[in-house]
Amino acid sequence: MEVSVLFVLLSVAAAEFAQDLAHVEDFIKQKRFVLKKKYRPLYHISAPVGWLNSPAGFAYFKRRYHIFYQYHPYNGAWGNMHWGQAISNNLVDWVHYPPAVLPKDFYDRSGCFAGSAIIHNDYLTLFYTGVAETKNVTTQTQNLAISGDGIIFQKYLYNPIIKKAPFDTTERNPKVWRVRNRWFMILGSGSRSKDGQLNLYTSPDMFHWSFNKTIARSYGDMGYMWENPDFFEMDGQYVLIVSVQGIQADNFRFRNLCQTGYVVGNFNYQSLHFENLELSMATFNELDYGHDFYAAQTMQAYDGRRLLVAWLGMWESELVESREGWASMLTIVRELRLSPQSRLLMTPAKEMADLRTEILEEAWYSPGEAFYAGTKAFELAVNATTSWYDVAVTFEWHGEKQFTVAYSAERGRMSIDRGGIDGVRKADWSPEGHIYWRIFVDSSSVEVFCGEGEVVFSSRIYPKKGITIRIGGEVQVHVTQYKLKRSVGYDENLRAYLKENFVNKVKY
Ligand SMILES: *[C@@H]1O[C@H](CO)[C@@H](O)[C@H](O)[C@H]1NC(C)=O
Ligand SMILES: *[C@@H]1O[C@H](CO)[C@@H](O)[C@H](O)[C@H]1NC(C)=O
Ligand SMILES: *[C@@H]1O[C@H](CO)[C@@H](O)[C@H](O)[C@H]1NC(C)=O
Repeated sequence: MEVSVLFVLLSVAAAEFAQDLAHVEDFIKQKRFVLKKKYRPLYHISAPVGWLNSPAGFAYFKRRYHIFYQYHPYNGAWGNMHWGQAISNNLVDWVHYPPAVLPKDFYDRSGCFAGSAIIHNDYLTLFYTGVAETKNVTTQTQNLAISGDGIIFQKYLYNPIIKKAPFDTTERNPKVWRVRNRWFMILGSGSRSKDGQLNLYTSPDMFHWSFNKTIARSYGDMGYMWENPDFFEMDGQYVLIVSVQGIQADNFRFRNLCQTGYVVGNFNYQSLHFENLELSMATFNELDYGHDFYAAQTMQAYDGRRLLVAWLGMWESELVESREGWASMLTIVRELRLSPQSRLLMTPAKEMADLRTEILEEAWYSPGEAFYAGTKAFELAVNATTSWYDVAVTFEWHGEKQFTVAYSAERGRMSIDRGGIDGVRKADWSPEGHIYWRIFVDSSSVEVFCGEGEVVFSSRIYPKKGITIRIGGEVQVHVTQYKLKRSVGYDENLRAYLKENFVNKVKY
């Protein structure tokens, strides 16, 4: 079916959508002024008000980056999922836009779960999982919504596009891509009584889908539910990212409730077969070793870079801010590369350097020396000229050690420690030559990038006062501290413009 024909069909629902959207927007507008600022991030995407979790779609459309996320506007707790939306010209300055998809139709009235975003024929199309609960049955179906401007989305009149999973399980989080003239979709699947698995569908037109095969599954030790799959080619190999529920912790691996990790292999588009690709505890690598990282989404930028964003959160984490009417944030955008050993390397998007407004500190420090951070939003670049000695940086407030980043030369290992119950996370790291860290702090989050991106930790922290940064370890380090600017916000002019041009007149 031609997309333009679709729009005619879709317009029936548009006026009603406009009303619902205006209602949500008014609510957000009233509430956001009363939010306490204490733990609010300045340069990470968090919800304007209410709850945020996984990124839901990530795309570059008409020269702008779009990040969609799982969103419950009405309070700081998880609830009926909407798709929130933020838009950027440059990956670092983000503006909140109205929610893109609202849960209200018979197939998605209990929630619009995450999926993916694709560009085709000058339209931005979102694929998502609709959740509908009746008294004793919950259904999860796959659906799509389309936009010509990337702001106002209309649901497809013939949703759902996939009504039923092939097996007796639920399926969710469609990742859609196109190769030659065919469309591909993988869905996460599983249940408490079944092993996690990924199901592959194909389509000639992105509206009609056929189930083809289960391309990967857990044989017991890889959890009961796989979700948020992502899949892409990189340097002639194929990377599959998946978020898993139900892996048992193994020493210092898999310590969070759920984990997002990846495997690298080959994919044959004719047979739809993954070669050399077995998901097991041995081959599955965590993408990030912090306490708060889940449900990664990637996209390819116009310059070819593979960019990633994820939820800087985890289900069991205490969200101190949720009683203040908002909760959680996304990670900063990262770039992925593949090492010669087929490991994913993850570094901050190069645009992150554009957030630096001034250098607050630039000096060599000896173990024991300290300085006051003086701001809530900063980046620390830490260098040691050798990897022969231990290196450590500690954040203190209330005169006490509260968060530590440390490299143990003897063990060849990185660790972070945020205190409290189960506060330590570790990862093997044996850099040759020198030590290099970039540490991003934003009010209540910290992201630590080691070396070329071999090891990354993302965690929430809750500094009660200003941070004092103390150098530990056994050797002098060079520290540069950059102050970072506020870069995520609400644009009042945009609100007025949208209201005038879209919200009241959304009829195509
Ligand atoms: C829902 O519950 C009712 C009452 O327990 C039962 O009669 C009915 O068969 C159930 N429906 C489904 C679809 O399981
Ligand atoms: C996928 O399944 C559909 C429907 O059964 C079939 O027409 C198509 O050929 C299959 N594709 C591949 C690559 O096997
Ligand atoms: C720290 O190490 C990085 C990565 O090797 C390098 O680019 C940077 O110039 C170093 N900075 C200092 C001050 O030595």
